[in-house]
Amino acid sequence: MKKIFITGALGQIGSELTVKLRDIYGTDNVIATDIRKNESEAAQSGPFEVVDVTDSKTMIEVAKKYNVDTVIHMAALLSATAEANPVFAWNLNMGGLMNALETARELNCKFFTPSSIGAFGPSTLKDYTPQDTIQRPTTMYGVNKVAGELLSDYYYHKFGVDTRGLRFPGLISYVTPPGGGTTDYAVEIYYEAIKNGRYTSYIDKGTFMDMMYMPDALNAIVELMEADASKLVHRNSFNVTAMSFDPEEIAAEIRKHIPSFEMSYNVDPVRQKIADSWPNSIDASAAKEEWGFKAEFDLAKMTADMLEKLGK
Ligand SMILES: NC(=O)c1ccc[n+]([C@@H]2O[C@H](COP(=O)([O-])OP(=O)(O)OC[C@H]3O[C@@H](n4cnc5c(N)ncnc54)[C@H](O)[C@@H]3O)[C@@H](O)[C@H]2O)c1
Repeated sequence: MKKIFITGALGQIGSELTVKLRDIYGTDNVIATDIRKNESEAAQSGPFEVVDVTDSKTMIEVAKKYNVDTVIHMAALLSATAEANPVFAWNLNMGGLMNALETARELNCKFFTPSSIGAFGPSTLKDYTPQDTIQRPTTMYGVNKVAGELLSDYYYHKFGVDTRGLRFPGLISYVTPPGGGTTDYAVEIYYEAIKNGRYTSYIDKGTFMDMMYMPDALNAIVELMEADASKLVHRNSFNVTAMSFDPEEIAAEIRKHIPSFEMSYNVDPVRQKIADSWPNSIDASAAKEEWGFKAEFDLAKMTADMLEKLGK
C-alpha cells in the first residue's frame, strides 16, 4: 500500500483508520473520502474529497486524480439502520461495493472491504462458528455482506483484483460513535457509565456476541493488507474476534471500576432479533494460521482503557 483511497472515512472505523494509515504511510498518501465533511482529524489532517459511493464516475475520477494503488471501502449502512430501510441499504451497500470494486479493477489496485458476523444466520452453528460454514442470514445487512464476500471473491478470480476482507465482530471505540449497528450497546454502555452511572440495555442479558477493541481491528486491517498473498486461502472473509460477552458480563467488568454502576433492560425487539440470529462466538483460527492475526485487548483490558480514555 503506497497511495490509499478510503470511502466512508468519517465513520466509526474510517475516522481512526485514516489517522493510523497517515501515521504509517504518510499524510499525503491517504485520501479520505465520505459523502459529508466535518471537523474531525480524518477530514482535516490530510487530503479529503467528498465522494458519494453510489456515484461511480466521481469515485473513479478522484481515485485517478491521486493515482491510488489501494482502495479501502468502508461506506455502508449498518445492520439496524439497514433493517429499517432495506431497499436503500441494498442500493448503497451493493451499489457502493460494485463501484469500489470497479475502481480497483480499472486502476489495478489492492482492495479491502469488511464483512461482518452479520454474514451468519440462525442456521449457522452458534458456538465457535467455523470459518467455512452455513451462511443463510435473515437480515438485509447479512444478505449484503454474504453477497459482498462472494463479489469480492469473484473480482479476484475473474479479474485478478487483489481483494481482501475480514468478518468483523462488534467494534468498540471511544473516538467516533458507532453508526447504527446491533452491537452499539457495548459502546454506549461506557459513555453512560461515565456520564450517569447507569445504562438501560436494548440487548437482553444472556445474549452473547463477539466484540473487538478498535486498535486490534485497525491492526488487523493493516496486517491483512500487508500479508503475503500466496498464504491467503480465505481472502475476503476471515473470521476475527477478540472476546465474546453478554450485557451482564460487560456490566460486571465496569463495576470493577465504578462499583455503583447500575444496569437495567428495555429490550428492542428489532435489534434483539438480529442479535439472536448471529453467533455467540466465532473461530478465528484461519486468520491466525494464514496471516498471524492476534488481538491484544480482552474485556478487562479494553474496559480499563475505555473508562480511562472516556473519563478524560
Ligand atoms: N463498526 C462495526 O462494529 C462494524 C462491524 C462489522 C463490520 N463493519 C463494517 O465496516 C464498515 C464501516 O463501518 P463503520 O462502523 O465505520 O460505519 P459508520 O456507519 O460509522 O460509517 C459509515 C460512513 O459511510 C458514510 N457514507 C454513508 N453513505 C455514503 C455514501 N453514499 N457515500 C459515501 N460515504 C457514505 C457515512 O457518512 C459514514 O461516515 C461497514 O462496511 C460495516 O458494515 C462495522
